[in-house]
Amino acid sequence: MPERTSKIAIVGAGSVGATVAYACLLRGVARRISLYDLNVEKVKSELLDLNHGLQFVPTASVDGGDDVAVCAGADVIVVTAGAKQHPGQTRMDLLDANVVICRNLLPKLLKAAPDALLLMVTNPVDVLTYVAMKITGLPPNRVIGSGTVLDSSRFRYLIAKRLKVAVQSVHAYIAGEHGDSEVPLWSSASIANIPLHDWAVQGHGKLTVRDRVEIFENVKTAAAQVIKGKGATNYAIGLASAQILEALLHDENRVLPVSSLVTDVHGMTDVSFSLPSIVNNKGVETVLPVPVNANEEAGLRNSADVIKAAIRRVGF
Ligand SMILES: NC(=O)c1ccc[n+]([C@@H]2O[C@H](COP(=O)([O-])OP(=O)(O)OC[C@H]3O[C@@H](n4cnc5c(N)ncnc54)[C@H](O)[C@@H]3O)[C@@H](O)[C@H]2O)c1
Repeated sequence: MPERTSKIAIVGAGSVGATVAYACLLRGVARRISLYDLNVEKVKSELLDLNHGLQFVPTASVDGGDDVAVCAGADVIVVTAGAKQHPGQTRMDLLDANVVICRNLLPKLLKAAPDALLLMVTNPVDVLTYVAMKITGLPPNRVIGSGTVLDSSRFRYLIAKRLKVAVQSVHAYIAGEHGDSEVPLWSSASIANIPLHDWAVQGHGKLTVRDRVEIFENVKTAAAQVIKGKGATNYAIGLASAQILEALLHDENRVLPVSSLVTDVHGMTDVSFSLPSIVNNKGVETVLPVPVNANEEAGLRNSADVIKAAIRRVGF
């Protein structure tokens, strides 16, 4: 009898992979979670620690090891394995090392779980989302990158803090690359249907041009700020990934700014980056043609060019 419970396989049991597992456990995203890492001591210890907390979360099992076979039968494979940023490095600096890992790893993963959706988290995530699609030959909807889900939550947090409203009430996206060329979509940002550029609510401030510049700069440098003090970012990406996984496994039709193949959106084509998209158990169902102003469109074109150049540089 095939297993009927949902299964997530997380590849890489480092800071990000272990925290994705933890966030998924807390939220009850899947019944089974498997962790795979080359570093057997690390993965064994993470597994023990996670298992010791099972009493306190919705029913789930956690297993894994250093054999790729632990990923067998996964509904979603989450790739967090690979080199991470050190202070002073950009995400693009990780490209060469992480493409080699993807070339080696992805065919084995898909052999173990041929029907899985693939969620790429390893950086540079947009380039690797495209590369993963090419290496595996999977249809574009099944290869998803965590994209700017994290950047958008950093953006919303900063706007919410400045305007003194709950972060959940802010609707605003960062689109394009998860990286230096990302684009804040200010023109469609809103709270309570009030466009942010019209926001002038008594006692809740108003965003000045300077505020906007500061907020966006803070979003762009957020990872570097965190890495400087603790060596990795893990909690927010863990939670962001858990929400994407929930949208996938629970067939939510949730709108999330994930990275996926973009085909003819605002004239851009054959590149993977983030735009608000409908996410369900097919993966990315639809990339939404969100309205953008001329500046934002130029920003997205630049992002597409940066990502395409990197894709070509590694031979895809
Ligand atoms: N997309 C995002 O928003 C986002 C956010 C944070 C971090 N990241 C990226 O996630 C990746 C992981 O970051 P981290 O902080 O967890 O790094 P980490 O060094 O803590 O963990 C990486 C793990 O991958 C394992 N690994 C390496 N090669 C492997 C292979 N071939 N097979 C199996 N396991 C392998 C290592 O043993 C290690 O445990 C980095 O590329 C980082 O830049 C992405």
